[in-house]
Amino acid sequence: MRVLVVDDAQMNVTLMRHLIKKFPDCESFGFLDPIEAIGWCRENEPDLVVVDYMMGEMDGIQFTQQFRALPGYEDIPVLMITANHETSVRHRALGSGVTDFLTKPVDNEEFLARARNMLALRKSYKHLADEVRKATAEIVAREQETIFCLSRAAEYRDPETGAHIQRMSHYSRHIASRMGLSVEQQDLLLEAAPMHDIGKVGIPDMILLKPGKLTPEEFAVMQQHSVIGYQVLNASQSPLLKVAAEIAHTHHEKYDGSGYPQGLAGEDIPLFGRIVAVADVFDALTSERPYKKAWDIDKARQLLLDGAGTHFDPVCVEAFFADWDGVMRIKNRFMDDNLEIGDFTLK
Ligand SMILES: [Fe+2]
Ligand SMILES: [Fe+2]
Repeated sequence: MRVLVVDDAQMNVTLMRHLIKKFPDCESFGFLDPIEAIGWCRENEPDLVVVDYMMGEMDGIQFTQQFRALPGYEDIPVLMITANHETSVRHRALGSGVTDFLTKPVDNEEFLARARNMLALRKSYKHLADEVRKATAEIVAREQETIFCLSRAAEYRDPETGAHIQRMSHYSRHIASRMGLSVEQQDLLLEAAPMHDIGKVGIPDMILLKPGKLTPEEFAVMQQHSVIGYQVLNASQSPLLKVAAEIAHTHHEKYDGSGYPQGLAGEDIPLFGRIVAVADVFDALTSERPYKKAWDIDKARQLLLDGAGTHFDPVCVEAFFADWDGVMRIKNRFMDDNLEIGDFTLK
């Protein structure tokens, strides 16, 4: 545990640091200048702050305000030493985030008792925060595992390969990154995109696995995979599955409104749906399927360019082409031959 002592009188700093030595596992750091102490706090997280009220350039209340404004420092105890008995000063101090007071001249025993209590409180707070972090990580891991199983179950029914799912989700993240989306959004898209076709579990084999062209009636049934996927995933409270539900629902919408199932147009189509549409079509074209050969890259490129503004959001198409080497790296990284069906590591 680290204790920070801020007092403009060297004697007080020395005395308090000396007292703190009585606590095992405690290091103390002393500053005469509160501005320097704030600088130290930006790099180092203390577990207890002991600060004098009356100091030259910055008083203990101003110090505490600046300290509390640092990210993650809301709950670190601050003990203020004051000779001032005025209630108004104490109220202001409490309002700015001071946890407790000691009155000057400081009684050694009282100081030790107060500091010990505050450090004990801090210790249990840290322990609790740690437990919460571990539990949250566990939940996230379980969620990813569940999604992995769900996607694998869908793969058994889907003629598309695991490599398709990996390439299209990485293409999707690639587009999101070129569009300037945050890393969190990029990762969310990467994790949610694999479930875009999960609704195919509800499509009869004679349609799903039909080698030839679908009749209009069969195509109407096939289109239902976007709605089924949405209904399956949207039943969850998980933000990741909610995003996946939106992608499943909207990845066949077209920019000009001629897509399905809702016939949404332009920016009425959620952004992730517009991004996945580009990634999914590009990969479907450039991969070999039981019923077709892979298109060559230039032909597929041209189809995306021609479709910008009609089938696809032109901004997403532009972002896709902005770093062509990046696209090729993804294509070569996840080759069909290198993957067994079910090999589904996303990152
Ligand atoms: Fe689909
Ligand atoms: Fe797909």
